[in-house]
Amino acid sequence: MRILGIETSCDETGIAIYDDQEGLLAHQLYSQVELHADYGGVVPELASRDHSRKIIPLIRQTLKEANCTADDIDGVAFTAGPGLVGALLVGASVGRSLAYAWNKPAVAVHHMEGHLLAPMLEENKPDFPFLALLVSGGHTQMVRVDGIGRYTLLGESVDDAAGEAFDKTAKLLGLDYPGGPRLAKMAETGDSSRFTFPRPMTNRPGLDFSFSGLKTFAANTIAAESVDGVCDEQTKADIARAFEDAVVDTLAIKCKRALKETGLKRLVIAGGVSANSHLREQLEKLMKSRGGEVFYPRHEFCADNGAMIAYAGMQRLKANQTVGLEISAVPRWPMDTLPAV
Ligand code: KG4
Ligand code: ZN
Repeated sequence: MRILGIETSCDETGIAIYDDQEGLLAHQLYSQVELHADYGGVVPELASRDHSRKIIPLIRQTLKEANCTADDIDGVAFTAGPGLVGALLVGASVGRSLAYAWNKPAVAVHHMEGHLLAPMLEENKPDFPFLALLVSGGHTQMVRVDGIGRYTLLGESVDDAAGEAFDKTAKLLGLDYPGGPRLAKMAETGDSSRFTFPRPMTNRPGLDFSFSGLKTFAANTIAAESVDGVCDEQTKADIARAFEDAVVDTLAIKCKRALKETGLKRLVIAGGVSANSHLREQLEKLMKSRGGEVFYPRHEFCADNGAMIAYAGMQRLKANQTVGLEISAVPRWPMDTLPAV
């Protein structure tokens, strides 16, 4: 069986074709980063318009790359939420309409389930059950995963998501959007012993996160270290390092706690922030010390992409979890309400 996957929930148009026997046949990604850079963040209306411009040519290109025609496709999956409603509606309208025109079933995919299952596209994939740390620009969640659609939310951010905190702090450091990877790069030349940032919510029980205070801590540190309103580059790098260390440590402390509580031996990290090399290193160390294993997607599938939507869509298609003819997008959609497969 073959499925076409469409992702348009934010600022990336991602298209992929996945075959349940042969794996990923083709994938294309168009990033709107340059379009939004001047504004310092995603402008929803511009995002929707750009998805509309790019989606059809990208679908054509992906079909060509996979050497497929509509006849070879058994279903169309699109991200139905959560995300920006206008952006989601572009993918949902095109995906639903294509499925109708091709007389094939349509599947509405949950964006975070896409991230969660992205490591399944790799050779070394985790068996169920596992613990998942989902760290993206919009979400930070700790989830117990017992199977597809069998998700128990153990904790989540009560304010900013980890990626959002990276982006906001990067902005304070004068870095362009999207700041997360730029801050991580800046942190490489930073001295980790100069500043110590708090590890929020680690000294009380529970698995929730809070990252907005770190951004304020960074702002106060920048102000205190600035001379005539200017902060020197080394100080900025030291602050970036202290911020990154604090986020990574906090995430690792909560993973350790969740692993202890659940007794799970496998940890998945996914979402844009899972590309962070310090986070990967620290979680690898943690799992090694516990006799377990950590799994993550290849770099290009950490952030938003069509491949993860095609994969998640295939699992739902095989379970006949398809949608009717109406076109709908769900900007807010708790993942633990999904049906089990
Ligand atoms: O999963 P994603 O592409 O989009 C959402 O679903 O939100 O995640 C994007 C987020 C952004 O906040 C970006 O700054 C962050 O992931 N990110 C990183 C790194 N690469 C991407 N954060 C820290 N370190 C990185 N290397
Ligand atoms: Zn995402």
